[in-house]
Amino acid sequence: MIDACVIGWPIEHSRSPIIHNYWLKHYGIKGSYDKRAVKPEDASQFMKTLNEKGLAGCNVTVPLKEIAFETAQIKESSAEAVGAANTLWLDEKGRLCAANTDTYGFMTHLEERHPNWRGTLGRPVSILGAGGAARAIIYGFQKAGIENIHIYNRTLERAVELANAFGDGVSARNWNDRLSSPRKSAVIVNTTTIGMNGKGDLGIDFKNANPECIVCDIVYVPLETEFLKRAQTEGLATLDGLGMLLHQAVPGFEKWFGLRPKVTPALTTIVLESLET
Ligand code: ATR
Repeated sequence: MIDACVIGWPIEHSRSPIIHNYWLKHYGIKGSYDKRAVKPEDASQFMKTLNEKGLAGCNVTVPLKEIAFETAQIKESSAEAVGAANTLWLDEKGRLCAANTDTYGFMTHLEERHPNWRGTLGRPVSILGAGGAARAIIYGFQKAGIENIHIYNRTLERAVELANAFGDGVSARNWNDRLSSPRKSAVIVNTTTIGMNGKGDLGIDFKNANPECIVCDIVYVPLETEFLKRAQTEGLATLDGLGMLLHQAVPGFEKWFGLRPKVTPALTTIVLESLET
């Protein structure tokens, strides 16, 4: 029996148990995956004592991702790049290892749905927002060789800070200039919380967009955000946020349970149904 869990504070909202328990059952693996509320002040100690708790590892969600990064003894480049970790496991020597699988989750979904996403490159990739999710996604595009990334953020200083951290090819833009980004961009990604639960509006219309532009949202409640709907109305290709959530779970499951699981339409349906309740 192998046990793993997801920790966060609060943790009730997490969909990770639905994903991992689906895979455990589907592949007939004797294991468990539950959610545990861990206060920030207790998080480091929890992570250091995974073995004593009988845990092979855990996922980590807000606000504990930076603590996970700090606590881990071995950090994959994905975690180093973001300064935060969402997946922890123990290696053969019992050392606490950390990865950030958000980059993998987003890029895998993009590659899968839009394998030709590099088609109009030469044009920039535009990122809306400058938080942790933006950092993970910028790292993904940079690793994929994209040399022209624009960051639009309400608080310009955060965009500047992020652009400086990534260096050449990544630049900060004024928030208001997001309105003209569809015309210029090959790919646009909303990483802000705008549109979550139907709240807020990015205010972008896609009438004069580059017709090849791929419009992505990392918000997945609702699955079709206003942002994506507007892009679809103008005939643009879109990418919803749910695929990132599903794919980011893959590397952790493989580390703990020893089998690389698949993101399938059946899994997607089950998670979608859970979002509707
Ligand atoms: P995460 O780490 O999950 O990406 P975060 O660090 O809280 O979350 O970042 C949220 C992003 O949404 C930020 O880019 C934030 O902009 P600021 O840096 O200016 O705070 C953006 N955001 C949230 N609400 C917004 C709003 N009403 N208008 C514009 N941007 C907003």
